[in-house]
Amino acid sequence: MAEKRTVLVTGGSGFIGTNLVRSLVASGEYRVVNLDALTYAANPLSLADLADHPGYVFVKGNIADRELVTSLFEKYQPAGVLHLAAETHVDRSIVSADDFVQTNVVGTYSMLEAARRYWEALTGNRKDSFRFLHVSTDEVFGSLGAEGYFSEETPYAPNSPYSASKAASDHFVRAYQHTYGLPTLITNCSNNYGPYQFPEKVIPLMILNALSGKPLPVYGAGANVRDWIYVEDHCRAVQLVFEEGKPGETYVVGAGNERRNIDLVNQICSILDEIAPPAEVHPLRERGLESYSELIKFVADRPGHDHRYAIDSARITRQLGWQAEVGFEAGLRRTIEWYLSNPEWVDKASGGSYGEWIEKNYASRGHAQEEKK
Ligand code: NAD
Ligand code: DAU
Repeated sequence: MAEKRTVLVTGGSGFIGTNLVRSLVASGEYRVVNLDALTYAANPLSLADLADHPGYVFVKGNIADRELVTSLFEKYQPAGVLHLAAETHVDRSIVSADDFVQTNVVGTYSMLEAARRYWEALTGNRKDSFRFLHVSTDEVFGSLGAEGYFSEETPYAPNSPYSASKAASDHFVRAYQHTYGLPTLITNCSNNYGPYQFPEKVIPLMILNALSGKPLPVYGAGANVRDWIYVEDHCRAVQLVFEEGKPGETYVVGAGNERRNIDLVNQICSILDEIAPPAEVHPLRERGLESYSELIKFVADRPGHDHRYAIDSARITRQLGWQAEVGFEAGLRRTIEWYLSNPEWVDKASGGSYGEWIEKNYASRGHAQEEKK
């Protein structure tokens, strides 16, 4: 059997990281060293079953801790880095961007610097085949009107403190490739959904609020559009770019599932009506709720709210043969079923500081979290 390739994954305990680590470890081709600070966004249950797996090593630590990261390069001699660790929630970045600058900008710079020093000392095939893949977002391109798509040629125009910090990190990655020749790759993906997503993000938030009879807080008129991709499709793209992408290249990734937020929330409600009818859910039955859509409440909009994201994935399809495989209705059902089947994970995610965040974000939007009478 061929020897496993060791890779350093950062942010492996978050939403996309968990799905990626699971798929890399399951392939049998990789030994994954996961460096994660376990912030509020990480759930210790997500990868608990891999704790003793020979293809998995967990290291709790901060990507900005250069000494630690340097020691990991020395100890594990990775064939490459898949860099996902970040602060990721736009609404939190609007409340305060301190952690976003620290992790997304300073942390990414620090990862690049440690990687460069390690890579420069490598020789032969190990040096030639080393890759640093930076997982970024389509939000760096700003907002679209009714027409058009983001592509690799779209100029950067980040609108939120979150997207500004990701744009800054992308620029550092690009500069390290251009100046030092570090073999970097960047992916800019659209909105992911699926299992293990922290419930501050719109899809799990709506699923879990609905099941507990709380209002479903739709920002503004619900007319903003997001282009949804099932997380496993994104993870396949990330692995493919890491293995076969051209160093220095960027790849935008999306699955062509544009939805207005209000339509998305209605779709979640109608799937839930079918698989967990309110008449069969204890406190909702008493309230005479017939459909979860009765819980929808329009609340104050996000400041600077990007109107529309949409992706033209032609490059990754043409160069690497990648295509999304999971249809939106099927992926959404799978996601809802996963949240229904994992109450322990949900309890853990909804504990800690989650309640404080919900209060902070929604109280000023019109007490959207109060139970609807
Ligand atoms: P997430 O918020 O679910 O997880 C982030 C992870 O990073 C957590 O496990 C957290 O503990 C870890 N982390 C945060 N700060 C850290 C630090 N200083 N040191 C070490 N670890 C730290 O994020 P996600 O949604 O899985 O996103 C992962 C990456 O993908 C991010 O870079 C994000 O910008 C990008 N991305 C996300 C989406 C999406 O829709 N979720 C879409 C495109 C790109
Ligand atoms: O496009 C990729 C990005 O997608 C990632 O880079 C980010 O890390 C990820 O969080 C996501 O950003 P969004 O801001 O698009 O995701 P969020 O789930 O926060 O919101 C999706 C849409 O739903 C957005 O238009 C705002 C709206 N929304 C969100 C929340 C939390 C609501 O209407 N109500 C809500 O309560």
